[in-house]
Amino acid sequence: MKRANKAKGGKTIKAILNQAAQKLKKASTTPELDAEVLTGYALNKKRSWLFSNLQQKIDPNKTQKIESLIEKRAEQVPIAYLIKKKEFFNLEFKVTKDVLVPRPETETLVEQSLIKLKKSLQHPGKILFIDIGTASGCIIISIIKELQRKKIINGLNKLDFFATDISGKALKVAKCNAEKHQISDKIDFFSGSLLKPILTLINTGGYSQVVIASNLPYISKEKYEKAKKTIKFEPKKALLAGDGGLKVIRKLLEQLNNLAGLGEIRDIAAMLEIDSEQAHRIKKIIKQLNNLKLIGFSKDLNRKDRVATVINKCTMG
Ligand SMILES: C[S@@+](CC[C@H](N)C(=O)[O-])C[C@H]1O[C@@H](n2cnc3c(N)ncnc32)[C@H](O)[C@@H]1O
Repeated sequence: MKRANKAKGGKTIKAILNQAAQKLKKASTTPELDAEVLTGYALNKKRSWLFSNLQQKIDPNKTQKIESLIEKRAEQVPIAYLIKKKEFFNLEFKVTKDVLVPRPETETLVEQSLIKLKKSLQHPGKILFIDIGTASGCIIISIIKELQRKKIINGLNKLDFFATDISGKALKVAKCNAEKHQISDKIDFFSGSLLKPILTLINTGGYSQVVIASNLPYISKEKYEKAKKTIKFEPKKALLAGDGGLKVIRKLLEQLNNLAGLGEIRDIAAMLEIDSEQAHRIKKIIKQLNNLKLIGFSKDLNRKDRVATVINKCTMG
């Protein structure tokens, strides 16, 4: 009874949405949408419910919760951190401040990895798939769910999945997402830098093909400093790399180059997400590494070079 009275004196949903959108005008390019998403989240209701209940008055405690979220959004905290989730490849992922918010352009990396894996599955022998710098796990989990959805790995025991990250906190989120999507038994997680935690496995695991997908940090110091404030809430280590953004990717390419002469392995391919402006430099780096060959760049939805595919020539079967 007390609650109902309180709500009677509260603001309507319509008023809350209008005020929130007004407040978010400077911070967001989608102030109305952000206001609806945050209000829906605080009330545990869908956006469609808000529209059919615009005149409903809201308990002041709840209003306070909404206003606190709007305050944070006005400070440019990414909306995914406020609602603790993000949709990627049609799946919902838990996100925390310890992981990068999955980006739509990374779906290109998932698509290219799927194309490669489907080809790899046509050949005999075991396949090792590795997601390096997994963070939320969005890449490897989307790949497994898609293969399951298409019934491609059902009945097949040819694929092993591994995910690594240098951040232990990020790996915890990835494990959580694997559980959420009921595939934690399908992925082994390793903490460590680049290929280091899985070198022994690559060497001795009896694999005939190795497929690597990786979205490593690739933003240069200059770009990072000029970037919108919202990006600064994400882990710096997930975004920023020295050497004009290519320090970490270069290191991985060097490690791939050194994977020559591995007896049983007939194919090592890596798909690396890049900034389109780095394509030229990536080409140059690969040219300097004798055992590597650049297959090409795949474009994202904005027609920008987004994924570099590279193979180790020494293992070409
Ligand atoms: C751009 S985020 C990508 C996250 C996720 N894969 C995605 O696409 O949303 C880069 C990730 O690589 C990890 N990372 C940075 N340096 C690394 C290294 N040397 N070895 C392994 N992971 C690294 C970071 O901790 C971060 O989680």
